[in-house]
Amino acid sequence: HRHLLGIEGLGPQEITALLDLSDGFVEKNRSADRKSNNLRGKTIINLFFENSTRTRTSFELAGKRLGADVINMQVSASSVAKGETLIDTAMTLNAMHIDVLVVRHPDSGAVKLLSEKVNCAVINAGDGAHEHPTQALLDALTIRRRKGHLDGLTVAICGDVLHSRVARSNIHLLNSMGARVRLVAPRTLLPAQADRLGVEVFHNMVKGLEDVDIVMMLRVQNERMKGNFIPSIREYFHFFGLDYEKLKAAKPDALIMHPGPMNRGVELDSDLADDVERSVIREQVEMGVAVRMACLDVLTQNLAGGNA
Ligand code: CP
Repeated sequence: HRHLLGIEGLGPQEITALLDLSDGFVEKNRSADRKSNNLRGKTIINLFFENSTRTRTSFELAGKRLGADVINMQVSASSVAKGETLIDTAMTLNAMHIDVLVVRHPDSGAVKLLSEKVNCAVINAGDGAHEHPTQALLDALTIRRRKGHLDGLTVAICGDVLHSRVARSNIHLLNSMGARVRLVAPRTLLPAQADRLGVEVFHNMVKGLEDVDIVMMLRVQNERMKGNFIPSIREYFHFFGLDYEKLKAAKPDALIMHPGPMNRGVELDSDLADDVERSVIREQVEMGVAVRMACLDVLTQNLAGGNA
């Protein structure tokens, strides 16, 4: 593959190879010798049309730890603000002989469209409600390092599935790797025909969490809600917020995950989020840097004619 646009289309062998490579980078990042020259002379541009803390910073760190030159484009300060289109912006950057464009955009499909117009590698850092492939890879790495494997695990993805690219990428990855996926959400926050995604659907949190190995909470994406998706925050937390009581339904060693940014007290109890016995949210962030190093490494080798 020249680009990383989504998990859909990646096979278990490709996913496993990326996770194996990421594992090595986790150890390297924990050592005193974090920097390498794998990407020396390469240029990466982060082009984010939506806000980000984790993804943008970790792509920047990942590129720099591999020795690349990394530029963060501030879209609000760019000529996009003067009306330059997405494609013209991408083609302008492409003309500067860059190697990788990391793109986040509010519209599903925008990153793929852009990838067809440039000759650098393109990584999807989240497009609308479509995919966020590096998030699913870092989630998988977190689970695999904790549980030793992905196959046979039961994973409950809970909350605002409708607006979630994280959920879609995770469904593809977990299905591909032999895990069982449950979606736990109110009817208003599920996509149409959710049961055709190869998942089990639950509208009751306690039933949905019964004996699961992993509880993946999703952010309630207020900025994407143009209607009455939830009656009130208080009611949402009562029925669909994860707290110690509802968690009792899951396996005693079930892990709690959240891609961030989280709404404390909305989808997740604040104490539970900070409970290091159960929550691996900070670990997910750490894995994010390693996974992005692996993705950049593989894609730039492809550009050089390598066989990765
Ligand atoms: N999980 C995630 O994509 O976070 P950011 O929006 O902060 O990048």
